[in-house]
Amino acid sequence: MRVLGIETSCDETGVALYDTERGLLADALYSQVAMHARHGGVVPELASRDHVQRLLPLVQQVLDEAGCTVAEIDGIAYTAGPGLAGALLVGASAARALAFGWGIPALAVHHMEGHLLAPLLEDEPPAFPFVALLVSGGHTLLLEAQALGDYRILGESLDDAAGEAFDKAAKMMGLGYPGGPRISALAEQGDPQRFTFPRPMTDRPGLDFSFSGLKTYCLNTIAECGGRDGLSEQDRADIARAFEEAVVETLVIKCRRAMQQTGHRTLVMAGGVSANRRLRARLTEALGQATRKQQPVQVCYPRQELCTDNGAMIAFAGALRLAAGEHQQGLEIAVRARWP
Ligand code: KG4
Ligand code: ZN
Repeated sequence: MRVLGIETSCDETGVALYDTERGLLADALYSQVAMHARHGGVVPELASRDHVQRLLPLVQQVLDEAGCTVAEIDGIAYTAGPGLAGALLVGASAARALAFGWGIPALAVHHMEGHLLAPLLEDEPPAFPFVALLVSGGHTLLLEAQALGDYRILGESLDDAAGEAFDKAAKMMGLGYPGGPRISALAEQGDPQRFTFPRPMTDRPGLDFSFSGLKTYCLNTIAECGGRDGLSEQDRADIARAFEEAVVETLVIKCRRAMQQTGHRTLVMAGGVSANRRLRARLTEALGQATRKQQPVQVCYPRQELCTDNGAMIAFAGALRLAAGEHQQGLEIAVRARWP
């Protein structure tokens, strides 16, 4: 079975072709980051218009790269939400129209299910059941995945998502957009001893998160150093390091707790922030070894390019759903900017 995947929920146009026998046949991505960087964040209308320009050439590119004809495609999966409404509509309309024209089913995929399943695209994929930490620009979720489509939320952010916190902290320091990779790169030069940021909500039971307080802490620290324009390169690096340490340790503490609570032995991590090298290393280090209380946990995450938004994860989620017998009828084009 071959499924074309289309991702347009935010600022990346992603198209990929997944074959249930042969794996990923082609995967193309166009990132709008440079266009939005000038505005300090994603401008929704610019995002939608750019998806319109990029999408069909990318579909053609993927078919050419895979040497695949239209007749060999069994379904088209598209991100139906959550995300920017206009951006989602571009992908949904194109997917629905192509599927109608080619006489094949269209499958609406939840963006976070795409992220959740991305680690399963790797060699030696983790098996259900597992605990998943999904950390992106819009979400921070801990969930228990029993089987395809059988997910239970264990905890989530009560305010900002982890990626959003990275982006906002970066903006405060004048680092530009997107903030995660920039903070992460700067943190390498930072002194971990100079500042200590709080680990929010780790001193009480539960698996929920709150990252908005770190923003205030960051702002106050910047003020102590003389304000945004008075920061030296070393100040920036030290703040970036303290901020990253705080987010990473908070996520590690909650993951350890989730593994203890559920008794599962596999932790899957995905979403844009899972590209963070310190987070990957710390999670593996903290959970990968047996302790008095806990058996070693297998920590799985996708390769870097499948952490952030991409078409491959949507093609894959769609293929699994199609193989499980699911497909949509009808012609309505419905997207959900908010989708629990
Ligand atoms: O999953 P994603 O591409 O889009 C959403 O679904 O939101 O995640 C984007 C987020 C951004 O907030 C970005 O700053 C963050 O992921 N991010 C990172 C890193 N790479 C991307 N955060 C921390 N460290 C990174 N290396
Ligand atoms: Zn995403």
